[in-house]
Amino acid sequence: MSINKIVKLFGIKYPIIQAGMIWCSGWELASAVSNSGALGIIGSGSMYPEVLKKHIRKCKKATNNPFAVNLPLLYPNAKEHIETIIKEGVPIVFTSAGNPNTWTKELKSHNIKVVHVVSSVKFALKAESCGVDAVVAEGFEAGGHNGREETTTLCLIPDVANKVNIPLIAAGGIVDGKSMLAAMLLGADAVQMGTRFVACKESSAHENFKKMVVEAKEGDTKLTLKELTPVRLLNNEFYQELVDLYKQHPTKDILMNKLGRGRAKLGMFEGDLINGELEIGQASSQLNNIFSASEIIEQVLNEFSSYKNQINNDKKFIF
Ligand SMILES: Cc1cc2nc3c(=O)[nH]c(=O)nc-3n(C[C@H](O)[C@H](O)[C@H](O)COP(=O)(O)O)c2cc1C
Repeated sequence: MSINKIVKLFGIKYPIIQAGMIWCSGWELASAVSNSGALGIIGSGSMYPEVLKKHIRKCKKATNNPFAVNLPLLYPNAKEHIETIIKEGVPIVFTSAGNPNTWTKELKSHNIKVVHVVSSVKFALKAESCGVDAVVAEGFEAGGHNGREETTTLCLIPDVANKVNIPLIAAGGIVDGKSMLAAMLLGADAVQMGTRFVACKESSAHENFKKMVVEAKEGDTKLTLKELTPVRLLNNEFYQELVDLYKQHPTKDILMNKLGRGRAKLGMFEGDLINGELEIGQASSQLNNIFSASEIIEQVLNEFSSYKNQINNDKKFIF
């Protein structure tokens, strides 16, 4: 019988969560992950309400296992998304980028489990006080939008684990069984992986983007646009244009103008590697191949178990 808190909370088999990601995690990825015993998440931040409805319905048809929807709370259609989530009977919601006070009670009154993504102890405590069921603490290594505190996963997880009483999911830089084990040793009950699942057969990311992700080397991701919302992305021509623009001490408006609308879609979904915004985490440097969701989960679990079992006999731990 499983006693892992996250496995129990969600009714899943393994404490592995595939992150909700704009332009990458639709129903194909979420259902494939859920069918493999982990938790798949539909990333609703890039979907119109009608599109989200279709993805939820297809996901429900494709899996009988629990799945979730990720909702960035600053998203303009957040209210309509919440209505869709409730009407369609989605069992779990991961909220991010906004105030957890706004929708947690409403969602919980419909028996929906709510998890909020945070980047600091302060926000973790706030989310806990709003009644969420668990928090994802996401470190600075992570792909996509990042916390202003710039705290790494290695430092954030023990701090949050020491302060909150609700289950804790670690995110940022976790791509395999070793990093999963490390995050759990630091105090997490489960892990959320984004970057690893971008480079996945069922991810809706463009093949050009997936290829660039698995070819990325150490140092190829950059954090930028701190004046807007800090974002970690691949160093491409668009990023270099930002570097040039920063030399002119741009205002927020100029930066917003440069980013424009649709750059993330252009890069990650349509495959324009020159002009697109290519969000990905530092741990992309450790990826070499594109696997299916079930292969990823199997590899992570096998590696997790073998490291856990080896640890006592590993010579480097004997001194
Ligand atoms: C391409 C991409 C898109 C993302 N989109 C979202 C999003 O829509 N909502 C959100 O809460 N987090 C988003 N994230 C962050 C992930 O949910 C996750 O927390 C993060 O990827 C974990 O770090 P890792 O990339 O090192 O695995 C995104 C990450 C990536 C790489």
